[in-house]
Amino acid sequence: MSMASRTPYLVSSLVFLFFLLFVSSTAVVDARGHGNPTTHLHFYFHEVFSNGPNSTIARLAEPHGGVNNSSYFGSLTVVDDMIREGTDPSSRLIGRVQGLAAGVSLSDSTFLTLFDFVFTEGAFNGSTLLVLGRPLLELVVIERPIVSGTGVFRMASGYMLSKIIESPDPNNLLLIEIDAYVWH
Ligand SMILES: *[C@@H]1O[C@H](CO)[C@@H](O)[C@H](O)[C@H]1NC(C)=O
Ligand SMILES: *[C@@H]1O[C@H](CO)[C@@H](O)[C@H](O)[C@H]1NC(C)=O
Ligand SMILES: *[C@@H]1O[C@H](CO)[C@@H](O)[C@H](O)[C@H]1NC(C)=O
Ligand SMILES: *[C@@H]1O[C@H](CO)[C@@H](O)[C@H](O)[C@H]1NC(C)=O
Repeated sequence: MSMASRTPYLVSSLVFLFFLLFVSSTAVVDARGHGNPTTHLHFYFHEVFSNGPNSTIARLAEPHGGVNNSSYFGSLTVVDDMIREGTDPSSRLIGRVQGLAAGVSLSDSTFLTLFDFVFTEGAFNGSTLLVLGRPLLELVVIERPIVSGTGVFRMASGYMLSKIIESPDPNNLLLIEIDAYVWH
């Protein structure tokens, strides 16, 4: 327990270092007037969605379809996707996204997602962000709430913006650029 009093100092120094390495600063202000987020994370979500030895998804239920042309209603997918520093599939792995996506709309392509972002590098190693959300696939930028976290992100709140970007391997790899604004 002798380390206990030093821990906050160490953690904040490490956060600062990580900030310099992976993160750009931001001037975004919380709508509720909470000031700048503590941390802005910028990274890429890589999902290997084709069937194959390196697939990062498992489809548990195929879509049932819905009235009015919903093509995803009833689908359920489990993912263990990759968080990488860049768009290149060989760029540095900094964590995983482990969770579920369910097609929940009878009338459009809305999903309900439950994702744990699990960091495995740098100052955020071992920390997680829990992100819920209701992405509608047609939207260019999808916003999801960050509802909590663990480790460095204990009691975190914030929001995550994601955007599908051009993939080097469109039949195999889904590539999403993510900006997360976190108060913690
Ligand atoms: C799966 O990943 C391994 C290790 O990265 C790689 O050598 C192999 O080519 C990949 N296979 C496919 C089908 O992408
Ligand atoms: C489904 O969408 C297609 C193409 O937009 C349209 O032609 C068709 O009428 C729609 N069907 C229903 C049941 O809404
Ligand atoms: C489907 O379309 C019909 C006719 O436009 C509408 O009355 C109904 O509310 C729609 N159902 C859903 C679940 O969106
Ligand atoms: C991350 O944490 C795990 C568990 O504490 C440790 O085994 C691993 O070496 C750490 N990785 C890095 C890159 O610090």
